[in-house]
Amino acid sequence: MKRHSDVVKCPRCSEVGSLELQPGLMNLDYIVCEACGYPLPVTQGIPNFAEPLSRETRELSIKQRIMETRLFASMYETPIWRPLHTFLSSGMTVEKQQAELLEMAGAGEKGVVADLACGTGHFTRAFAAAWPDAAVFGLDLSMSMLRQGLSLAIKRGRKNILYVRGSIFDLPFADSSVNLVNCCGALHLFEDQPAIWAQIARILRPGGVFTGEAIARDDKMEKIQELLSARRGFRFLEPEVVRTQLEQVGLEDMTFTKRKIILTFRAVKREASS
Ligand SMILES: C[S@@+](CC[C@H](N)C(=O)[O-])C[C@H]1O[C@@H](n2cnc3c(N)ncnc32)[C@H](O)[C@@H]1O
Ligand SMILES: [Zn+2]
Repeated sequence: MKRHSDVVKCPRCSEVGSLELQPGLMNLDYIVCEACGYPLPVTQGIPNFAEPLSRETRELSIKQRIMETRLFASMYETPIWRPLHTFLSSGMTVEKQQAELLEMAGAGEKGVVADLACGTGHFTRAFAAAWPDAAVFGLDLSMSMLRQGLSLAIKRGRKNILYVRGSIFDLPFADSSVNLVNCCGALHLFEDQPAIWAQIARILRPGGVFTGEAIARDDKMEKIQELLSARRGFRFLEPEVVRTQLEQVGLEDMTFTKRKIILTFRAVKREASS
């Protein structure tokens, strides 16, 4: 059984397995890297890989500043936010979406799971419940979302989740170490999606699965989507563009399903050819 520590790499020396990380609330100010002595900050109980501040943490966009607020984090899973938005944008319930992602994740081994831009972790918890022996990570940039996620995981008895603060552009996981990467409700927020695909391809094991969903480009929303892209750096997903970009980083066997404006997808990291 993999431990969370086995796949995390030190942000200073890149050694894997040198930071003693535990799921649940970490009551420490630092965890010291056994290889280089780097004191990884633990902020409000959550190991913090986004320090020193990266460019995107220093210059938080308006959309990210909202996601950093405690109010947003506390209402995120209530009926007026994620469930309502999921229904309006895809016609699905969140529960149905979770069940679909679990099915797409497939039956293969799930020793390590990483839910990227996990927010308050409703998908993270679904993975942790489905694979109680897996080392499950929830990674997000927002401390408020992570704090809410940690408190919900503790309340619901999900003992195999480690929430970490980090950026999707600089994942603190070893190469070829993760069996399942998931990212929901976030990819349309980022301009440089190819940089994210490269990170995901790097951390996935050969044969590992990438699942998720995000808002697709939609002709009926053309004007508003163009405005959000120009003014706020959104990039709404186009299956053919995503397919080509994922192929370029070594992912294959892709499936895309569009419901209303939500694109759900799955891809598999190519096995090394013999
Ligand atoms: C709309 S929420 C999605 C949360 C959850 N995955 C879901 O499906 O409901 C988008 C999340 O992306 C996170 N985020 C934004 N920029 C990020 C980055 N560079 N790295 C990691 N997470 C980021 C935000 O903090 C926020 O929690
Ligand atoms: Zn180190």
